[in-house]
Amino acid sequence: MRVLSGIQPSGALHIGNYFGMMRPSIELQETGETFYFIADLHSMTTLFDAEERRRNSLNVALDFLACGLDPERTVFFRQSDVPEVPELTWILSTVTPMGLLERCHSYKDKKAKLAGDDLEKVNHGLFAYPVLMAADILIYDSNIVPVGKDQKQHIEVTRDIAIKFNNLYGETFVIPDPQIREEVALVPGTDGQKMGKSYGNTIEIFGAEKEVRKKIMGIVTDSRPPAEPKPDAEQNTALQLLKLVAPAEVAEDFEDRLRAGGLGYGDLKKALFDYYWDYFTPQRARRAELGKNLDFVSQVLRQGAEKARAQATQVLQRAKKASGLV
Ligand code: TRP
Repeated sequence: MRVLSGIQPSGALHIGNYFGMMRPSIELQETGETFYFIADLHSMTTLFDAEERRRNSLNVALDFLACGLDPERTVFFRQSDVPEVPELTWILSTVTPMGLLERCHSYKDKKAKLAGDDLEKVNHGLFAYPVLMAADILIYDSNIVPVGKDQKQHIEVTRDIAIKFNNLYGETFVIPDPQIREEVALVPGTDGQKMGKSYGNTIEIFGAEKEVRKKIMGIVTDSRPPAEPKPDAEQNTALQLLKLVAPAEVAEDFEDRLRAGGLGYGDLKKALFDYYWDYFTPQRARRAELGKNLDFVSQVLRQGAEKARAQATQVLQRAKKASGLV
């Protein structure tokens, strides 16, 4: 079973990313063959700052390695280091009906957002995004693609493209299955909404101490006094976050005290900060170590790309043979 997923290098990762995507991805290393890559080519559809892309790509690599991605077990690489992917993208685009892409929610949403602002930014790459993603997936004979709900449609497009190609030119591609991440770990942001970069309510995994403390102390709460019992304790944002980073019995104790009355929100947030800080201390140390050893990080990505290309060249060759290019 080959598991494959990509992550866009779009800035500092937050604890919503960690509990929602990173930790489950890292746990999958135990169960099968994993291929993870940094989707820098996809980032080109919406990010137009070269330095920022370079910095983000490096940071994503550091974050994943610090959080337990094991390059001995996972093939970890940068999308753009596998030139076979854009080559396959062209081939796939010739069997992709325009209508299939026109129906994609992600494209329609981005287009609608940009329409009022900057129509020039509705580029062809944004439209062709799902075809590049199909190439990412099909070129490694991937069986399982773990993604968030927002990417489900793109996996369906990948399957449609693969089936279309196989019907036209003969069995070539493995048809992948999506593994949609259930939002088991609900990670609220500092305003109580779902944590997300675009909402400005994030708590970074590797934020500076002072900054994160400020964010945590600023978590939105109501104005009931400490002594008042809180029968709705489970809805408290700080408590929900505490449950993710503190041992279960500690979180339960705080919940009981909140319910009974007598625990102030300030004290709860202070505890949250301390447990958050402790939770990520080993990762923080590893990240600092990696930051001093960037040659190692480049080497990991280079070796990952080599392994990825070994697979990619085979599948690309298969597709070229099937379609009469060779
Ligand atoms: N589009 C995905 C996202 O934004 C990232 C991605 C690119 C991806 N290629 C992929 C995910 C292939 C899974 C498989 O989250």
